Amino acid sequence: MENLQNIQTRVSQSIADAPDLTALDQVRVAALGKKGEVSLLMRTLGAMTPDERKQFGPKLNALKTELNQAVVLRREELEAEVLNARLVSETLDVTLPPRPRPKGSIHPVSQVFAETAAIFADMGFVVATGPDIETDFYNFTALNFPPKHPARDMHDTFFFGPNADGERKLLRTHTSPVQIRTLQSAVEQARKSGSELEPIRIIAPGRTYRFDSDQTHTPMFHQVEGLVVDRTTHMGHLKGCLQDFISAFFEREVAARFRPHHFPFTEPSAEMDIGYQRKGNEILIGQGDQWMEILGCGMVHPEVLRLSGVDPDVYQGFAFGVGIDRLAMLKYGIPDLREFFACDQRWLQHYGFSAVQQPNLATGLSS
Ligand code: PHE
Repeated sequence: MENLQNIQTRVSQSIADAPDLTALDQVRVAALGKKGEVSLLMRTLGAMTPDERKQFGPKLNALKTELNQAVVLRREELEAEVLNARLVSETLDVTLPPRPRPKGSIHPVSQVFAETAAIFADMGFVVATGPDIETDFYNFTALNFPPKHPARDMHDTFFFGPNADGERKLLRTHTSPVQIRTLQSAVEQARKSGSELEPIRIIAPGRTYRFDSDQTHTPMFHQVEGLVVDRTTHMGHLKGCLQDFISAFFEREVAARFRPHHFPFTEPSAEMDIGYQRKGNEILIGQGDQWMEILGCGMVHPEVLRLSGVDPDVYQGFAFGVGIDRLAMLKYGIPDLREFFACDQRWLQHYGFSAVQQPNLATGLSS
C-alpha cells in the first residue's frame, strides 16, 4: 500500500513537471508502458492469493486510471502551450503598408491604336493586318508607283539584300500595302462564292519604316490605314468620315481643311489639316489661326482597283493613312518621338495608361 502511494505521488509529480510532450511521453512509458513500473505491478496480481488480489487489484487499477488521466490532461496543457506559442510567433500585422509592386502601363501608341479602333469600329470598320516585311509589288507596284518613278525614292526605303530569285524584299514604308492585300482577298472571296464583291471597310494599324531620325521622325513608326470600297462611296463620305474621326479622337470640335496633294494610289488626293493655336509652349488642337497637316487621303486610284482585279467602272472608294505616333504626341502633349521607343520606365509611368480601362465611346476614350 505504502508503495502504491509513493508511486502515485512521484509519477504524478513527474507528469506535472514534464516540460514538453517528449518528456511527458517518457514519463508515461516509464510508468504505464509495456515494461513500465505500474504495468509490472499489474503482472504480479496473478501470483497473489484471491484475498490479496481482491484488496490490491482495485487500488492498482485506480492508480493506473488516475495516472492515465493525468497524462491526458498534461498533454492537453502542453499542446495548448505549443499552439499558443505558434499563434504569438506567427501573428500578422495587417496594418503594415504593402510592399510597393511595380505596375505596368499601356504605351501611348497602343492606347491611340485602341482609341482609333474604337472610333472606326463604331462606324462599321473592321481591323485588317499585313506583314512588316513586304515585296516591292505590294509596297509600290500594285499601288501604281511606275517602275522608275521618283516617287519610289520619296520614301527612304530599307531594302533587304536580294534573295535567290534576285528579289529584294523591304520593310514597308507605309500601311498602304494592306489596301492591296484586302482588295485581293475580297476579289478572291467573291470569285470563290460566285457572288459580287462585298463592300470593304477596314482599318489597318501597324509598324512602318523609313530611313529617318530626328525629334519627330524615327526609323520605325506607326500608321493606321483606312480603306472603303463599294459602289457609291464618294469624296463627301471621305471628308465626313475623317472629320468625324478627328473630332472623336481629340474629344472636341476640331476644324479641318482638305488641301490638294499627290499620291500615286489616290485620285484625287488630299492632305487633311487641322486647326490649332499656340499658347506659350502649348499647342491647342481644335480651333485657331494655324493649320497642321495630319493625314494623307484620297479616292482610290482606278488603276489600283484594276491591278487588284476590281472593276473601277463599278466600284469606287476612299483610302487614308494617318501617323499614330503623331496623333499620340498631339493629343497627350509628348514633345519628343524618340522617347516613345527608348523603353525608359519613368517615361512609361508618366505617359502610360491604365490597363484596366479600355478606350470606348460610351465612357470616353481616355481618362
Ligand atoms: N501611304 C501614304 C503615306 O504614307 C498615306 C496615304 C494613305 C495617302 C492612303 C492616301 C491614301 O504617306
